[in-house]
Amino acid sequence: MQSVLFQNAVIYYFSGTGNARFAAEEISRNLKSEGLECEVLNIADKALEVEKPGRNTLLGFCYPTHGFNVPPIVLKFLSFFPKGQSKVFILNTRAGMKMYKLHTPGLGGIALWLPALILWLKGYRIFGFRPLDMPSNWIPIHPGIREKVILSIKAHCTKTLRGFSVKIVNGKKVLNGLIWLPLDLMVAPIALGYYFYGRFGLSKTFFANYRCNNCNLCIEKCPVGAIKSINNRPFWTYKCESCMQCMNICPHRAIETSHTYTFIVWWTAWVILPVVLPDLMIKSGLMTEEFYNRHYDIFYNLILYVVGIAFIFGVYRIVHFLLGSKTFNKVMTFFSFTHFRFWRRYNFLRIFKKNPEITK
Ligand SMILES: Cc1cc2nc3c(=O)[nH]c(=O)nc-3n(C[C@H](O)[C@H](O)[C@H](O)COP(=O)(O)O)c2cc1C
Repeated sequence: MQSVLFQNAVIYYFSGTGNARFAAEEISRNLKSEGLECEVLNIADKALEVEKPGRNTLLGFCYPTHGFNVPPIVLKFLSFFPKGQSKVFILNTRAGMKMYKLHTPGLGGIALWLPALILWLKGYRIFGFRPLDMPSNWIPIHPGIREKVILSIKAHCTKTLRGFSVKIVNGKKVLNGLIWLPLDLMVAPIALGYYFYGRFGLSKTFFANYRCNNCNLCIEKCPVGAIKSINNRPFWTYKCESCMQCMNICPHRAIETSHTYTFIVWWTAWVILPVVLPDLMIKSGLMTEEFYNRHYDIFYNLILYVVGIAFIFGVYRIVHFLLGSKTFNKVMTFFSFTHFRFWRRYNFLRIFKKNPEITK
C-alpha cells in the first residue's frame, strides 16, 4: 500500500562500527514494508551527490554520538545540506549497555539538538527526534561488549525501530528525544570541549602494533580519510574522528590504544607543563613573576589548550617514528590494555552477519 503522506524517503547515515547503519537500513526496510520507496545513503561516500529533497520526501539522518555531540563529518554535511521544507527524522545512536537484565541508555548531549536546530533553520519540519541505545563501541574506554549482550540489545532496538518507522510513515510525530533535555543540557559544555579540543587528543592515542603487516585496510576503509601511511606504518592524523572502524576491522588485531602512554603524555601536557613552563620562563628572565601572576589565567589556558595539544601532537610524531623498533613497539603494546585477549573488539555488522536468524 502506497503511503498517502510521503512520496518517497531518503535516509542519510554515518557509521563507524555499523550501529547507525543498521538503524538506517532497518528503518528503510520497515518503510518499504509500509509501501514507501526508500533510499539509504552513506554520508562518508565520496561519490555521494545530494539532491534537494522534494516537499513530500521523508528525510532521515542516522549517526552515532561522539563526545555528547554530532560527529564532525555529519555536522559539516548538515551545514552544507540544501534548504527544504520536507519532514525530517533525526536518530542518534548512543552507547547502550546491559546490566543483568536491564538495558541501560547512553547520553546524547547536543547530538540530537544541534542537527535539529540546523535543519529547522533550513526550513525542515522535525517529525522524528529520538536516540537509540545500540551497543557501545567506545573500546579504548572499555572492552567490546559480549556477543550475547550485543544480540540482546539489537533485538530490543529492532522492535523500537519498527515502532518508530510505523508511526512516522503514518504521520505521527515521534519526539521522545525531548525527555532527555535536562540531562543533555548538563553535559552540553563537555560536548563543546570534546568537539574543539578532546577529539584531537584522542586521535593521538592509536598506534599499530608489531602484528601490523601493512595491509592498509584501515587506511582504505577510514570513512574520513584520516589515516596515512608514514614509514610503512599507519599514522592517525588530526582528522581522525575516533569512529573506531579501524580498530574493529583490523584482521590482525594490530590497532591499539596505549593507555600507559596516553596517561603519561596527557598528564605531562595538562598537569606538568602548566607548572614547569612558566617557572622556566621566569627563571630564564623571559618574564617577571609579577607579570605572570597578573596574567595567570591567560598563561594557564594558553599552555593548556595550545602548548598542550602541540606537545601531544609532537610526542605522537616521535613515538610513531620509534615504533619502527620492534622492541619499542612491543613495550608500547605491552602497556596497552587493548592488547589483552579479554579486551574484545566491537564489530556489529560482522556479528550481525554471523547470526542471520536475528536479522529477520
Ligand atoms: C569517540 C566516541 C565517543 C562516544 N561518545 C558517546 C557519548 O557521548 N554518548 C553516548 O551515549 N555514546 C557515545 N559513544 C558510543 C557510540 O555513540 C555508540 O556506540 C554508537 O552506537 C556507535 O555507532 P556506530 O557503530 O554507527 O559508529 C561514543 C563512541 C565513541 C567511539
